[in-house]
Amino acid sequence: MRLTSDPRRALSRAGAGGVFGVMMLAGAALAAPASVPADADGAQLAKSRICLGCHQPASKLVGPAFTSVAERYASMGDPVAYLSVSIRQGGRGRWGVVPMPAQPQVSEDEARRLAQWILSLR
Ligand code: HEC
Repeated sequence: MRLTSDPRRALSRAGAGGVFGVMMLAGAALAAPASVPADADGAQLAKSRICLGCHQPASKLVGPAFTSVAERYASMGDPVAYLSVSIRQGGRGRWGVVPMPAQPQVSEDEARRLAQWILSLR
């Protein structure tokens, strides 16, 4: 507990994990990017890697809503592996006519974290 504002306490206050907590955190990350706890890491990353220029967590923008992506691939064998490749390579024809450009600025590790975050939004 050397941090001045303890992220663990903030986390349990946000609803002790679970869907409610995740949604709270995702919302909080968009509204106040300042001191968000570890679970909002994905949201921060999505912002800093410019994903949010084309995607919104819960509504369609240029690309599909991340909640729709999570919904579609939830029952896939290894959705994190699939999506992390998909994120770095971009692609077309899965959601509409607009293609997603490749994202070479995103490392493999970051792509996995983004994929995990997206899948958590369901
Ligand atoms: C220039 C706009 C743009 C940017 C920037 C962008 N996307 Fe996309 N994204 C799209 C579009 C358009 C699609 C739909 C492509 C299709 O129909 O296959 C898409 C699809 C996706 C999908 C679904 C892929 C699938 O296999 O179904 C994921 C996941 C995704 N984007 C994540 C990201 C992440 C994470 C970032 C940031 C690193 C990002 N996108 C940046 C436009 C964008």
